[in-house]
Amino acid sequence: MLFLMIKGYGQNEDAKISPYTLPEVLKTLDGKTVNKISDWEKKRRPELLTLFENNIYGQMPKSYDHISYKVVNEAANAMDGKAHLKEVDIMVERADKSVTIHLILFTPNASKKSSPVFLLINNRGKENTDPTRKVKSEFWPAEMVIEGGYAIAAFHVSDAAPDNKETYQNGVLQLYPEQLTVDNGMKAIGAWAWAASRVMDYFKTDAAIDFGKVSIVGHSRGGKAALWAGAQDQRFAMVFSNCSGNTGAALARRQYKPAETIKAINTTFPHWFNNNYKQFNDNVNALPVDQHMLISLIAPRPVYTTSATEDLWADPVGSYLSISEAQKVYTLYGKKSGLSPDPPPANTPIIRSISGYHNREGIHNMTAYDWGNFIRFADFHYFHH
Ligand code: GCU
Repeated sequence: MLFLMIKGYGQNEDAKISPYTLPEVLKTLDGKTVNKISDWEKKRRPELLTLFENNIYGQMPKSYDHISYKVVNEAANAMDGKAHLKEVDIMVERADKSVTIHLILFTPNASKKSSPVFLLINNRGKENTDPTRKVKSEFWPAEMVIEGGYAIAAFHVSDAAPDNKETYQNGVLQLYPEQLTVDNGMKAIGAWAWAASRVMDYFKTDAAIDFGKVSIVGHSRGGKAALWAGAQDQRFAMVFSNCSGNTGAALARRQYKPAETIKAINTTFPHWFNNNYKQFNDNVNALPVDQHMLISLIAPRPVYTTSATEDLWADPVGSYLSISEAQKVYTLYGKKSGLSPDPPPANTPIIRSISGYHNREGIHNMTAYDWGNFIRFADFHYFHH
């Protein structure tokens, strides 16, 4: 039992972590302390977005020639009449090239008005988001979410950028080939986040969606993309980043030994982040940002991150510390989180807070337990606040 506790969520190896100093989220590059919302929004926030673009995730191209939406499949009485299914092809064109993002969307029939929605960036198999519901998966528990009064949607990352170092260019990047020629160019994770924003463009046109209540959700590599999407596109009302680990919610400078490093991630997945990021493989302290700053870019909107006790590769403690460090920016907005300095015990979700978190007992995954807490957190912020 004691052994399990230490192994599970004690992370008592923390004693071995070398001291590190995080870059200050509320200090501008020219050394000025930010203590007003206007300075944050006009100066520091744009500065940080540019630092993340240039050093990690790459540019986020905004212009395109045309976008169109085509409903390619529809069932008004899906899920035994409980939901309305729409499959929509979102086609974006630029300079004679096009990319199509296939969206799967269920909206609850019980709701007379428009519904809040959870949008998943699906980085796993397409069977996880089966529109026929023959296959049901905890990774995208559509019935449970519909039952909770929410719409649920998903697109697959491969539509935006195949998750492969040889072929990631075959998607959004065909629209923006110039990105491939610059060291701060967009790569796969940027393309996934870009696609999430195009789904937002579609949601704006769908009367069944409550556009002010769109939550973006991602797991692991998808959770890294969800944070970047939420940081970039302030139309997302809430962000859920599940077990996102390195270059997601976890602090890079903590360098917790069993966890992934920048060098490891850049070596195995060179197609995720821009070329500049590779400069920090052996020099994390030279990075002008750390991941608490990414979370700060979501402020003042609610953000929820998770860990799993056996997922030490994603550094549970480091993932908690970044949301607690980001509180400085939430505090500027007068939003109190009440997060304690130390992470909560396993299976003890923090829900009634602007920043939510839980450390689920178990392995690297996204489960009904995780989603149950996402729904509770969204309920709290959208309906009980
Ligand atoms: C690998 C990778 C992680 C990533 C994970 C996943 O383990 O090293 O950074 O989060 O895959 O996407 O499941």
